[in-house]
Amino acid sequence: MNADSPRKTLSVDLGERSYPIHIGPGLLDDGSLLRPHLAGRQVMIVTNETVAPLYLESLKRGLIGGAESDLDVRELILPDGEHTKTLASVERIWDALLAAGFNRRCTLIALGGGVIGDMTGYAAACYQRGVAFIQVPTTLLSQVDSSVGGKTGVNHPRGKNMIGAFWQPRAVLIDTATLKSLPARELTAGLAEVIKYGLIRDLDFLAWLEANMAALRELDDALLIDAILRSCTIKARVVVEDETEQGVRALLNLGHTFGHAIEAHQGYGNWLHGEAVGTGMAMAASLSRRLGWLDDDEVTRVTTLLEAAGLPLAAPSEMDAEAFIERMRLDKKNLDSRLRLVLLRTLGDACVHDDTPPTLLDEFLRDYPRT
Ligand SMILES: NC(=O)c1ccc[n+]([C@@H]2O[C@H](COP(=O)([O-])OP(=O)(O)OC[C@H]3O[C@@H](n4cnc5c(N)ncnc54)[C@H](O)[C@@H]3O)[C@@H](O)[C@H]2O)c1
Ligand SMILES: [Zn+2]
Repeated sequence: MNADSPRKTLSVDLGERSYPIHIGPGLLDDGSLLRPHLAGRQVMIVTNETVAPLYLESLKRGLIGGAESDLDVRELILPDGEHTKTLASVERIWDALLAAGFNRRCTLIALGGGVIGDMTGYAAACYQRGVAFIQVPTTLLSQVDSSVGGKTGVNHPRGKNMIGAFWQPRAVLIDTATLKSLPARELTAGLAEVIKYGLIRDLDFLAWLEANMAALRELDDALLIDAILRSCTIKARVVVEDETEQGVRALLNLGHTFGHAIEAHQGYGNWLHGEAVGTGMAMAASLSRRLGWLDDDEVTRVTTLLEAAGLPLAAPSEMDAEAFIERMRLDKKNLDSRLRLVLLRTLGDACVHDDTPPTLLDEFLRDYPRT
């Protein structure tokens, strides 16, 4: 990457816990962006077997720099996969920290996708009651979503993300060049969350995505930076308004209640999270149409954009209406017995709706197209 590549920085304003998000190609090699955020000399990079051979050396090189460094940089390479997002993996991180003799002024750096980010963040939240933590997300999904906002945690055998904490990073370093090695299916899954931001909050961004989707999928650097910047800006704004999800942050779950039902029913990993959310957003748009909020043209805009991103629209044929309802009732977003859905009042304006008439929902789920 050439030295004068475009770079953008934005700030998540959370008072004394505010932090910068740096975005651009080739940032991994630039330790000057990370070093100011280290709490002390002790640094543990947590990554996995897929990402380590690709990016660990350049991150370490950037961090340590050319000159003599007094940093004590260790690494922990975990296995890959959503099934490893467990307390047992987090224990491995704690073991490594204790074995290295790391104290309260150590810093954990998460290098990888959302799985590594969520686990490392949770490990940092609990180690010696909380240590510094930096996110270096390497999937599109983690760059636009999981690395921003401070939700950390692991899965429990009885439910996804059921154990966790809010713990904000000290900085987020998004190297867009890492997306070049990402499998196309993972890129598409990340695009679902990008589209989500346009749908819930930003009609201009939605139109921009309609115009640029093909080039984004070709990994045009300048467009990627813009898309990530705009996504992170929206997420950061929502997080600042509602850090612990008492209100507006729930809008970030557009498509997720249907999507989580699909993911859980199909078995995690068979449908990627973003793919399930893509279908979930198409379903949310279609249900919003039934409620008379969107018109046909607006629904077509949504489905056309999702398709252009390569996302699936039809729900799995194995899932009947009952299967959806049953799974959706288990979703932790339901604060009481009412089913809460995020729907679209219009494009660019989402709302939480908890009084969809059960018969209408049932009919909708029966009629919705299947694979
Ligand atoms: N904390 C939050 O707010 C939040 C939000 C959304 C999702 N999540 C969580 O994030 C996780 C999903 O994240 P994800 O989609 O990044 O999945 P992931 O971390 O499993 O990464 C997907 C795959 O891509 C590989 N990979 C990562 N970077 C790569 C690169 N640059 N090149 C090649 N391969 C690469 C990974 O090793 C993995 O195999 C889920 O566990 C979800 O619950 C958390
Ligand atoms: Zn999501």
